[in-house]
Amino acid sequence: MAGMLEGKTALISGGARGIGRATAVLFAKEGARVAVADLNADGAKETVELINKAGGQAISMKVEVTSAADVNAMVSRTVDAFGRLDCAFNNAGIAGYQVNASGAKTADWSEEAFDRMIAVNLKGVWLAMRAQIEVMLKQGGGAIVNTASIAGLVGLPTSSAYVAAKHGVVGLTKTAAIEYATQGLRVNSVCPGYIETDMTKDAMARRGEDILRSTAMRHMGTPQDIAEMVCWLCSDRAAFVTGANYNVDGGYVAA
Ligand code: NAI
Repeated sequence: MAGMLEGKTALISGGARGIGRATAVLFAKEGARVAVADLNADGAKETVELINKAGGQAISMKVEVTSAADVNAMVSRTVDAFGRLDCAFNNAGIAGYQVNASGAKTADWSEEAFDRMIAVNLKGVWLAMRAQIEVMLKQGGGAIVNTASIAGLVGLPTSSAYVAAKHGVVGLTKTAAIEYATQGLRVNSVCPGYIETDMTKDAMARRGEDILRSTAMRHMGTPQDIAEMVCWLCSDRAAFVTGANYNVDGGYVAA
């Protein structure tokens, strides 16, 4: 049976580890040729090795998602390598501890930390969408999925700028979706709950019990749980789905 993404080409940012890596591996298994982009060039190469060893086709590239030049090059390198861009997963992101804002309430964030968070988690997504939409419109369509978060839907303590950025991603997603809906372009976002990756180690160490109590299923999700949703959203099975935000959160937002 053909894979869900057979014959498609895909670009995944933040693909060096965690959710991005799991999605890159699943996309390849489902038949896509995959470009894996990340600031962590070694990690991106490792993801490509995993894919190529399993018989898939992938390339890696080093990208800083806050740089328009890097992001434009990321998109054009993907098109040069594979001929077109069908699916894009804008997933690179950082958490508060990565800008020295671990545990900081709203008034305790530094300006530098706030700016960096918005640059990576919000502007980075817009820069990528800008370049991807241009290519996709020329070729007659495509599917974009952005990684938002449950933090794009509700407030989370000590995550001010992260929450602001992720709410922004949800807004960008909805707006682009309605702007290009009649041109074959679908834009959606996925809202993960607490997922077992390096990113959540800090939050789990500080307030893991509260987090699990707030998650209806009482356990964390896996990167694979998110990858499955992204794969479906990028596939033709989701042909009538655009402007949507899909929670994959073990019931966190519902509870
Ligand atoms: P992770 O920390 O394991 O992976 C993030 C990847 O993004 C890393 O490989 C990192 O090198 C890359 N990256 C960070 N800044 C970058 C930059 N400026 N340019 C290029 N690449 C950059 O994190 P994880 O958990 O896989 O998160 C992926 C996405 O999912 C993020 O957008 C995160 O905000 C989001 N998310 C994660 C949740 C979780 O529970 N793990 C929950 C909700 C959302």
